[in-house]
Amino acid sequence: MPHLKVKPFDSTTIEAQIESSSIMTCCGKSMTRDDLLIGVAHEGEEFLLQLKPDTDAYLLKYDKVTRPLKVNILKEALEKVSKELKLEILSSNIATSTTKAALSSQYFKKIEDFENITYPKEKISVEVGFGSGRHLLYQANKHPDTLFIGIEIHTPSAQQVLKQIELQGLDNIWVVNYDARLFLEMLPSNVCDQIFVHFPVPWDKKPQRRVISPSFLEESMRVLQKGGRLELRTDSDNYFWYALQTFFAIPKVEVEVRKNEALEVTSKYEARWLRQEKDIYDVYVKCTEESEQKTESIDFNFNDVKYTDAIEERLPKKALVFDGYFVHFERIYKISEQHLLIKCAFGSFDRPEHKYILLEEGSCRYFVSPPVKTMVNYRAHEKIAAQLMHAEGE
Ligand SMILES: C[S@@+](CC[C@H](N)C(=O)[O-])C[C@H]1O[C@@H](n2cnc3c(N)ncnc32)[C@H](O)[C@@H]1O
Repeated sequence: MPHLKVKPFDSTTIEAQIESSSIMTCCGKSMTRDDLLIGVAHEGEEFLLQLKPDTDAYLLKYDKVTRPLKVNILKEALEKVSKELKLEILSSNIATSTTKAALSSQYFKKIEDFENITYPKEKISVEVGFGSGRHLLYQANKHPDTLFIGIEIHTPSAQQVLKQIELQGLDNIWVVNYDARLFLEMLPSNVCDQIFVHFPVPWDKKPQRRVISPSFLEESMRVLQKGGRLELRTDSDNYFWYALQTFFAIPKVEVEVRKNEALEVTSKYEARWLRQEKDIYDVYVKCTEESEQKTESIDFNFNDVKYTDAIEERLPKKALVFDGYFVHFERIYKISEQHLLIKCAFGSFDRPEHKYILLEEGSCRYFVSPPVKTMVNYRAHEKIAAQLMHAEGE
């Protein structure tokens, strides 16, 4: 990722330069450490840069939480900010850093896009963790009337498949670069024909990170239409038995098991196990009932929340743990008196959300965008709002 190492300078001067800046919007100083955040608005995107002082050099780099998808926007912002602040560059990887293909295809969808999306096909199938994408591309070629939504947490794999979609001239795959365990909540009920989970990572030592879980299964059954099915394919004995237990724990599903079944398409991953003559298990879980539509309306506004005297001293320092979720005010950056940027982690334990909250005299909002609309995030949001209204200190 692009960054600059610059000669140490007087960072208290940044504030004064913001008014005349064409790119910088604000600057916040951490209340507990030396680092600073610089707000920038560039090419229609709002994000933060981080300035980390050290004795020999200051590091100016991107901020993980607000990072824009296009690396070029980041590079330009770093260049502009360093010019405006007249920084002396000691080393830079801006020109040489590998500019990975941007996730900018029309077939790339962000998780937020699903809050209000029109599906171009009547039939929908989902593939979780598609890896090289062989199975996903094969299915999409074979069933042009079905929209295949592929969810892959590994960005290079998502980029590879986006390239293949263009090369193969397909118009029926959407790629989502996200955690599949959160994604299904974004879909309406009864819309999917199939959900493929092929060779998920077994996570034997950290089972809480597995894709298959009671809540994933519950969501799968909600989004599957009656008669649709979840298809798990695994080479792991452990995962197979774990999945069976999970599947049998819910009422009213039909479960079917097959061993060493040959599919029409073999992924690279599977080919390796086949060469080693490993057993492969398929478990099909059929949805036998229609589900209700989701009705909860999720609103991440902070309404009446605003800066109150010394809130920065009163917010809890430790994580607040609730039933199935948590809220942690990790770091506070002071922009000016009564104007804070609060870095917050919250939501479920194994897939927490990280966001900044911009708290001012008259308003409060997530910076730069609200969290993903899941129930667990919403519950955490309510606790955050309550803390910002009524924090009483420790
Ligand atoms: C062992 S590979 C299997 C890939 C492919 N399905 C195959 O059969 O070759 C598991 C894939 O799942 C992806 N993955 C793991 N956890 C995930 C999650 N929570 N959400 C989305 N993808 C995930 C990994 O990045 C990896 O590409």
